[in-house]
Parts: sequence; C-alpha cells; structure tokens
Amino acid sequence: MARVLVTRRLPGGGTDPLVDAGHEIVGPEADDRPLAHDELMAAAAHVDAIVCLLTDRVDDAVLHAGSPRLRVVANVAVGYDNIDVAAAAEVGVVVCNTPGVLDETTADTAFLLMLAASRLATEAEDDLRAGRWRGWNINDYLGLDVHGRVLGVVGWGRIGRAVGRRAAGFGMTVLHHSRRPTGDDGYVADLDELLRRADVVSLHVPLQDSTRHLIDARRLALIGPHGVLVNTARGPVVDSAALHEALRDGVIWAAALDVTDPEPIPPNDPLVRHERCLIVPHIASASRATRAKMAEMAAANLLAGLRGEPLPTPVNPDVYARR
Ligand code: DGY
Repeated sequence: MARVLVTRRLPGGGTDPLVDAGHEIVGPEADDRPLAHDELMAAAAHVDAIVCLLTDRVDDAVLHAGSPRLRVVANVAVGYDNIDVAAAAEVGVVVCNTPGVLDETTADTAFLLMLAASRLATEAEDDLRAGRWRGWNINDYLGLDVHGRVLGVVGWGRIGRAVGRRAAGFGMTVLHHSRRPTGDDGYVADLDELLRRADVVSLHVPLQDSTRHLIDARRLALIGPHGVLVNTARGPVVDSAALHEALRDGVIWAAALDVTDPEPIPPNDPLVRHERCLIVPHIASASRATRAKMAEMAAANLLAGLRGEPLPTPVNPDVYARR
C-alpha cells in the first residue's frame, strides 16, 4: 500500500481507483483550498506519490523535500509548467500529465471566445443585464464576422488542430505556425507573418522560457486593429501590460482570455475593466465529462507508477533509464 497526496478534491470520483487499489489518500484539506508552498513541501516528505493541479507549484524545493519513496507526480492538466520537470528527473520522480482527453473541450472554448469577442457578445450582454439596452438599433453592437476571416493558430498540437477543424466548418481560412514544419496545408514558418495575415489569432503553445511574452507589444501591432486575440494556453504567453495598452489604443479589436497573468486576475485589473477584453476564469477544459476523464487519466498513470510499470503519459520518461 502506498500513501498518495491528493492536493485538491477531484471531480467524478477521481480518487476512487486509488482507494480501490488499497492506497492511502492524504488530503485534500476539508475546505478544499490550495496548499501553501510550505504545506506542500511538508506533505511531500511523507508520501509515495502526488496528484496535483496546475495551481500547485511543485518546484525544486518541493521535490527535494519529498520523501525518498516519492516516485510519481501526476498533474491533472495537460500543461505542466507548474512542475520543475528537470528537478523531478534529478530525484528520480516521473511526472505525467493528461494529454488528449481535453482537446475537443478546449477547442470548443477557444471557439466560444473567438465568436463572443468578435461579435461583442459580452459588451451587449452587460448592457442588457444592467438595463442599458433600450431596444433594437441598427447601429448597435456591430461586431466583426468570423466566417470569411483568416484564423492564425499558434501551436499546431492536438488542441490547435482541433481549433483548426472547427474553423474550417465556420468558413474560415486556417493558417498555422509551429516551430517545426508540420507538413500540413496552411503552415506559416514565420510567426510574424502569420500574425500579419491572420484576422483572429488563437494561442495553443505550452508555457516555456521561449514562449513567455511570445505575444508582446510589437506582435500585437502585427495583429492589427481588426484583429482578435484568443488565449486558452497560459496567461504569461501574452504580455498583459502590452495587451491592455493595445486594447486601450485600438491597436487590436478585442481579446478573449481563458487564462491570465496572474491567476486569479484581480477584479480591478485594467484588463478586467476593459470592455473589449472578454475574460473567463480558466474554464477551457471545464466540462463534467472532460474533467472526470482528466482525473481518471491521472489515476491510471499514478497506479501504473506505483506498480513499477511505465506510465501511459509521462513527460520525463528518461527517468526510467536513470533508475
Ligand atoms: C490544462 O490542462 O493545462 C488546462 O489549462 C486545464 O484547463
């Protein structure tokens, strides 16, 4: 029997497979709050495995404070920028994520954001709820069409491709950029060129040193005054201050963000207050079915790791070679 730290309550009976396999679960706290960093360090010292969320910073300190028995860290998310994977490899801990199961749900959200921002849906709904709508007017809420426009997908992984498939159905022309040639139609090798040619830009890259502030003031200007930026990747991929200035000065038409920097974004942040910035609270994968599948996948990885078997979706499989 192993002892498993589960940092937060999981959806859909997420810990049942671990309990059924006879493992002892530690956590989450009764009030289901995020663990402070020192609490995470203390808890890691006594467990064989950790199931964590993207809000848990599993850094070098946590991994080095971890028990010598610690073997697996299962992140219930596809992005794993919250985990120091190199430090995990150093201490022989295999890290896994949840790729594949959230692609379609996340792509749906990217489309929701793209449509809503282009057509000023939030602005119009805010007026209606606040009693400011005085009835139909031919000049009100004149947004931009999505059909007939050019979508530029930045990052052509599973989620980027799922967004591209939807865009084709909406009558959009789809271009995509990725660091390596994809061999697919619509590939644009130069990111700046993609931004210049696209009307709507949707971001689907992981957060890494090379993608932090990938979209800065200069690149926002390339998107242009009729351009819409959609971010369902990670907040820091966009320079938030530059985005606010671009919206304020009409450098781009609108932005729609599922992710922000920081999270949670304070209600008095200038982006929250800007009517052309639609923001939802990191809900891209938040359908009941998808969140349950993410939890299931994390449990399946963890059980394999505790049995000493290769994990289905490790992000640092080189750890096996070092053991
Ligand atoms: C992920 O899995 O990385 C997503 O951001 C969760 O919605």
